[in-house]
Amino acid sequence: MHHSSVLLIGGSGFIGTHIAARLCASGRQVIVPTRRYHRARHLQVLPTVQVTVADIHDPATLDKLLQRVDTVINLVGVLHSWPAKPWGAAFERAHVALPRMLAQACARHGIKRVLHMSALGAAIDGPSMYSRSKAAGERILLDAKDLQVTSFRPSVVFGAEDSFLNLFAKLQTLAPVMPLGGADARFQPVYVGDVAQAFVDAIDDPGTVGRVYEMVGPRQYALRELVRLAGEYSGHVRPVIGLPRWIARLQAFMLELLPGPTLMSRDNLDSMKQDNVATGQYPLPPHWQATPLEAVAPDYLRAGA
Ligand SMILES: NC(=O)c1ccc[n+]([C@@H]2O[C@H](COP(=O)([O-])OP(=O)(O)OC[C@H]3O[C@@H](n4cnc5c(N)ncnc54)[C@H](OP(=O)(O)O)[C@@H]3O)[C@@H](O)[C@H]2O)c1
Repeated sequence: MHHSSVLLIGGSGFIGTHIAARLCASGRQVIVPTRRYHRARHLQVLPTVQVTVADIHDPATLDKLLQRVDTVINLVGVLHSWPAKPWGAAFERAHVALPRMLAQACARHGIKRVLHMSALGAAIDGPSMYSRSKAAGERILLDAKDLQVTSFRPSVVFGAEDSFLNLFAKLQTLAPVMPLGGADARFQPVYVGDVAQAFVDAIDDPGTVGRVYEMVGPRQYALRELVRLAGEYSGHVRPVIGLPRWIARLQAFMLELLPGPTLMSRDNLDSMKQDNVATGQYPLPPHWQATPLEAVAPDYLRAGA
């Protein structure tokens, strides 16, 4: 079956923007709901993309949006939540309650095809609230009767607008040294263009239904190496000082208390207790060809310096 119209939830963000562009290039109609119009305004230039301000946690709103599509892509995710057991309220709302509500709404509307964004290493007994709540939401969708779900689990994603390498590049323009928690944690960064293409390729591919895919780049790096590369490419290399665990935790706690976006939380440190690299538990997407970080990051980090 050809799926021609997509509700792209979380489409205004970093990865969603790339998926929206590729859905549009493939000739599909796309609806991107957002809580704040200005977050998605840049998508309005794409001819088949319609941006709409909507509360997707409201079942009636979701019902209206689903009337106009045959496919749902869910990218909604948050990085921080105040601690609670088994996970905090923000994780519950974004990672668990929303997939549950989506599964119910799709059933009401006879929508079968759902592509979902999980995260590498998500596990119900994982070390962080992020990991556990991501696993719970993914499981709800995979277990939903009658849905045709594909779930993707990327490592950290890089690309011109990322908030990972760009953040470390920026911090090195401001600070003389880089005190770093989790400095030895390992990552296998994956390019946003590869992630977006895998989503779009999977939509009409029946072989991907009911499957979970890991998405990783060609190389593994310790976090300290990634910070060094971000500094090198942007022209501001600073010494990286790996923090002992208890100081990293104290630093993260203080960052959580600061106003504005949280740079690092205790839960992020908990996530890093487990390396964020391919586990082999799930395959890579079909025809996967990963773009090396070295082929892309120098250009955008130099430009942003
Ligand atoms: N970036 C990475 O390195 C990475 C790695 C692994 C997995 N992931 C997963 O990939 C997904 C997308 O990541 P991203 O980097 O593109 O994130 P992003 O740039 O922060 O975008 C997040 C999107 O989710 C929406 N959103 C966030 N919280 C919401 C809430 N409570 N209710 C409704 N909408 C909400 C935002 O919509 P508004 O327009 O309404 O703000 C935005 O469109 C997430 O699920 C993330 O966990 C990302």
